[in-house]
Parts: sequence; structure tokens; C-alpha cells
Amino acid sequence: MATILATWEAPGKTAVARAWENYVETLNLRNALEAGLEACELDPTFLAIGLGSLPNSDGEIELDAAMMDGADLSCGAVCAVRGIVPVISVARRVMEDTRHNMLAGDAARRFAIENGFGPRNLITEEIARRIEDWRAGNVPEAYVHSTSDDHGDTVTMLGLHAPDGKPNCVAASSTSGWAWKMPGRVGDSPIVGAGIYADDEVGCAGATGLGEELWKACASFRATEAMRRGRTAQEACEETVRQMLRRQPHSTDMPCVVLALRNDGDFGAALTTGEFELWVRKGETETMHRYTGLDRT
Ligand code: GLY
Repeated sequence: MATILATWEAPGKTAVARAWENYVETLNLRNALEAGLEACELDPTFLAIGLGSLPNSDGEIELDAAMMDGADLSCGAVCAVRGIVPVISVARRVMEDTRHNMLAGDAARRFAIENGFGPRNLITEEIARRIEDWRAGNVPEAYVHSTSDDHGDTVTMLGLHAPDGKPNCVAASSTSGWAWKMPGRVGDSPIVGAGIYADDEVGCAGATGLGEELWKACASFRATEAMRRGRTAQEACEETVRQMLRRQPHSTDMPCVVLALRNDGDFGAALTTGEFELWVRKGETETMHRYTGLDRT
């Protein structure tokens, strides 16, 4: 039985539903997670991922995405890519078709176009209106996340299956990052070890929320290594978040969320502050779990 996790109430629901549908057809976790994130990237109502997401301070949408397969630690990522969706598919192409781990900016865009991804305008009417408000000084700089804005945050997905009785984990993420960020800013999401990590010997982990802080903590790698030391997924996430609370004064500026999935199916999540929802699909059962910031406990 496969397990698929996705972050945040609205996009997570879409991601898990689409990923599961794909998994049932293909029995391939890379395909499933790519399909889940693609569905979110192409939905302009989700303001922190893909088409119609919130731009940087130049009014340009710059997207980040990554995928990692715990079978052999293969990974691929793209960052600061303009005018291409779905970037999760480009990240997967980097993983499968190049000898590199990450391509950035214009070169990532060129790689995408050379590989058949059509360039397109990602600025929807809604986003154009928000850019005008931003330029008029009517919008404060703000991180986009679900407690302040119903449209979600970085979508991070974790998957586990055991096709030959041997567990295999895949982690993937896609985001437009911090709204009105400095051009060229890259957060944790496409960084292996920060935004995602997968190792079949243990399981996989991911992050969503304030990328600068999650990256400093190497949050996904830290949580994976905690599971390697025998922690449950929940303990691993809490240990990572408590370390952030202890060492990183800005880790409560916005939610910093860590989620983990052990290779036996045990899962968990924890966050520094605020509220977080995690969608979990295990076979025929789909559930949504709510978590509260550890700064309140
Ligand atoms: N976690 C997404 C970002 O900060 O870009």
C-alpha cells in the first residue's frame, strides 16, 4: 500500500488527490508526485505555486522545484525559473536527463525550452492587479501561507511504496517562494537537505514555510537523520523544530514546518509557530491532520 503526503489544506487536497489517481494508473511514485505538484502549479487559485503565483519585487514570478528519490539519492532541482510551468517536471528532467543536481535562472529556463516546455506568461489578471497594488505601496511585504491567506504555501509532497517488498521513498516540492522577494532569491524548497530529502534506508522528509530559516536548519536532512537514529517521524520533526526554536531567533517570524515519512509508513509533522494542515493518503484512506506551532506548547 502506498502512502502520499502533501502540505496545506487547499493545495494539499488537490495534490494528494491527483497524485493518488496517477499512482493507481502508473504505480510510479515519481510520476505520482510530479502529477500532484503539476496540478497545483497549473491552478491559478494557489498563489504560492506555479501559474498565477505571487511575484518578486520586480513583478516577475520566479519558481523553484525539486525531486529526490531515496532509492539511490538521485535528485534534480531548478530555481528562479521564469515563464515555465510545471517546474516540477523540469526538476525531474534535471534529475533523470542530466549529470547535475540543479539548474538556475535563465539557464534552467533554456534547458526547459530545449526540452519542449513552452514559455508562457504566468501573470494572471488577478496577479497583475496585485502587482499594481504592490507598486502603489498598498501591500506589505508578506510571506504567503495558509493562515494569512487561504491559497496556500509551498507544496511539498512525500511518498512511500514498496513495489518489490522493499521500501522506496520520493520527496518533491514546488513553490514561487516569498511574495515580493528580492529578484534571484532562492528559498529552501529546491535545496536538497533543506526543502526535501529522501533515503530509502530511513524514509523521507520535507519542509514548507519560511525558507531562509528552514535552510539554515538543513531541516529535511536533520529530520531524516533523526529517524535514522531511531526516532519516530513525529519525534524527528519535533526535534528539528525545537532545535530551530532554540537556535534561530527568526524561526517564529513565520511558520517553519517540517514533515517526515519513515520507510515503515509512520508519518509526522511539526512547526515553529502558527497552524499547519497535512493531507495523508494511505491506500483507500485520505485524512487531513492539523498541527499547531511548538512555540505555543
Ligand atoms: N519554503 C518556500 C520558500 O521559502 O521559498
